[in-house]
Amino acid sequence: MSARLLVFDSGIGGLSVLREIRRQLPSAEIAYVADDAAFPYGDWEAGPLSDHIVALMGQLIERHRPDAVVIACNTASTLVLPPLRARHAIPFIGTVPAIKPAAERSKSGVVGVLATPGTMKRDYTRELIRSFANGCHIRLVGSSELAPLAEAVMRGESVADAAIRTEIEPAFIEVDGRRTDTIVLACTHYPFLIDRLERVAPWPVEWIDPAEAIARRVLSVLKLAREADGVPMRPGRAFLTSGHAWPRQLAPVLAGMGLEGDFS
Ligand code: DGL
Repeated sequence: MSARLLVFDSGIGGLSVLREIRRQLPSAEIAYVADDAAFPYGDWEAGPLSDHIVALMGQLIERHRPDAVVIACNTASTLVLPPLRARHAIPFIGTVPAIKPAAERSKSGVVGVLATPGTMKRDYTRELIRSFANGCHIRLVGSSELAPLAEAVMRGESVADAAIRTEIEPAFIEVDGRRTDTIVLACTHYPFLIDRLERVAPWPVEWIDPAEAIARRVLSVLKLAREADGVPMRPGRAFLTSGHAWPRQLAPVLAGMGLEGDFS
């Protein structure tokens, strides 16, 4: 018996984590829930956002009865893991800014963190920097625009390079003659923009996407071994909290990840 997972985000960003879970555990039974009714989370105040997610998660757990929940959202994970763990006995695997691996990999010691404004403000994020930045200079950049831009790109809408460049440029800095050489993608939406990010970046950097590590963590929490390549994907389902149908442009993306859904 493989695991029954609930993978959760405010929008389509969590699919970047789900994609890695699929690679490592294709037989998992997955329900993907995007809280589009409340998207984007980035500009919500912490208190109301926490109350909202805790209440919603109660309903989702009752409905989907997962063995574990993956909070595939930095804005949520840096806030709601403690109250969720206090209320529910099942494991919650979160997604938090990959500051530690970035600080370990950076040669220049100048690291950018691209996140939402919410993640940028969190005590949790500040604490990660205090504990793991290893003397690196960390430039935290909170963008309200980048996650909605990623959603637009995923829907096949045209998004100007300049719009993306404006959002990421503040992460590219020079400190005492050393330049940013590593950037943490601290929002699960951003890996879907990777080709565009590479194209508009003022100079080449290493982009850190934690999805693979999160998928490994899911396996380790559930005490499951990585499945062999070629194991068929068990069909799962994708839901929107608004009750709307998914934009039909996303049908191939969801199908590629073994997810069915209602499309417009
Ligand atoms: N994908 C989410 C994250 O990882 C946030 C996007 C949003 O709702 O603002 O932070």
